[in-house]
Amino acid sequence: MVLDVIKKRASVRAYDKSKKVSKEQIKEILKAASLAPSARNTQPWKFYIAESEGEKSKIMRAMSEHNAWASEASILIVILADLRNAYRVDEKKYYVDIGLCLENLLLEITNQRLAACPCAAFDREKLSKLLDLPAYLEPVVVVPIGYEAKGSVLAGLREKYGKVIERSEHKIGGTKDLKELIVGWR
Ligand SMILES: Cc1cc2nc3c(=O)[nH]c(=O)nc-3n(C[C@H](O)[C@H](O)[C@H](O)COP(=O)(O)O)c2cc1C
Repeated sequence: MVLDVIKKRASVRAYDKSKKVSKEQIKEILKAASLAPSARNTQPWKFYIAESEGEKSKIMRAMSEHNAWASEASILIVILADLRNAYRVDEKKYYVDIGLCLENLLLEITNQRLAACPCAAFDREKLSKLLDLPAYLEPVVVVPIGYEAKGSVLAGLREKYGKVIERSEHKIGGTKDLKELIVGWR
């Protein structure tokens, strides 16, 4: 069951603007995200939810131009790290917690047959200012969520290419073979 959802999850970068994600769906997604494990059970995450066009456009002003497609999403969720109770801020250990929270969120989105793509390409300082965030809330990742529309850029690359391929400075498509990933075990 879990493996089915994991296999189905993929980054989707085109959304049907006519279909809205409901408050109930958002709550279930956040529930899954909030159940992630964290170092010393610090649960250092907070969620900024942008649903109105005004709120979304604030976030879009801080996004990299490569992520312009994100403005079509029904909602944008920004996962924030709460540095007041995050584990080892100096060593950025809390990034593991935020990563686990992100994956839980993405898997529940997939489970609900919704589409999303994590985005870290944004100007962090600009976003903090635009959202008027206190210094202890660090925006780590923006997640546009909506119903999938046809024509998503980079869609289906994992299925299309057996192996990871290089395109400009990015590695895209495919999945690495387990043999490449295992260290110290035969
Ligand atoms: C931390 C993180 C940041 C990412 N930032 C972006 C981004 O800014 N823009 C984007 O289009 N994709 C972004 N991605 C999506 C990756 O490109 C994508 O996960 C990867 O190519 C694998 O494809 P898949 O998610 O469809 O399996 C990001 C993914 C992660 C985990």
